Amino acid sequence: MNIETIKETTKFLIQKGFHFPDVGIVLGTGLGQLVNHIKIEAEVDYADIPNFPVSTVEFHSGKLLFGTLENKKVVVMQGRFHLYEGYSLQEITFPIRVLKALGIQTLLISNAAGAINLNFKKGDLMLIEDHINLQGGSPLAFKNVSEFGERFTDMSEPYDLNLRHSIIEIAKAQNIILHKGVYAAVVGPQLETKAEYRYLKIIGADAVGMSTVPEVIVANHLGLAVLAVSVLTDECNPDDLKPVNISEIIALAGQAEPKMISLFKELLKE
Ligand code: HPA
Repeated sequence: MNIETIKETTKFLIQKGFHFPDVGIVLGTGLGQLVNHIKIEAEVDYADIPNFPVSTVEFHSGKLLFGTLENKKVVVMQGRFHLYEGYSLQEITFPIRVLKALGIQTLLISNAAGAINLNFKKGDLMLIEDHINLQGGSPLAFKNVSEFGERFTDMSEPYDLNLRHSIIEIAKAQNIILHKGVYAAVVGPQLETKAEYRYLKIIGADAVGMSTVPEVIVANHLGLAVLAVSVLTDECNPDDLKPVNISEIIALAGQAEPKMISLFKELLKE
């Protein structure tokens, strides 16, 4: 990690037309359709951005977009980087540092997750209120961290209270079920065993997934206001566990997507 690579990438993107975004948005698995609502003003493939990791997961299109959505300037990560693709925690969170350098103040995150809390059903949305990092490391564990900010980042309220309050009200007004809960991040890419699902429930997780937490840690390090919503794509019942079907997970994320888009758009309006 060094400041120069962040500066170089930021400069490149400004030259490509990424001018003063207010809000960053990370679109997770199966949640790419929000981009159809954006008036796109600039667009670059991850592969063409200097210092960016290159996305290897074929169902992520891997692009950075800039444009207008609900009168806000947004920069959108269409597809994210995962630890299970073999990158380091610093590499997968590098784009978040670049978005901050471009000027964002707020970060909206989506992901697909499994429901540990069995009161939640597949296809439902869950607002992440807190998280448990089970990825075995920190994206802030590197030598010269003080160049970037403080060493010991506070995590007493990693998800912005005002944004949470707003989206809860929006969901009510739109009659969209929005559960609230704790998201546990694992490395993956293997799914969990029955014993692991039992463990996740015992330690207080409502949902489990393979992303988001590193991004949220770095966003807090950078002082960004963060909001994150999970689409629950499977029900993780250890007493009745069926083999996982990844295409079903992606399809379910796609089906729930209009709800997520509707919430995010109204949130941007406010
Ligand atoms: N476990 C981990 N990640 C996931 C799951 C799951 O059950 N569902 C969607 N992403």
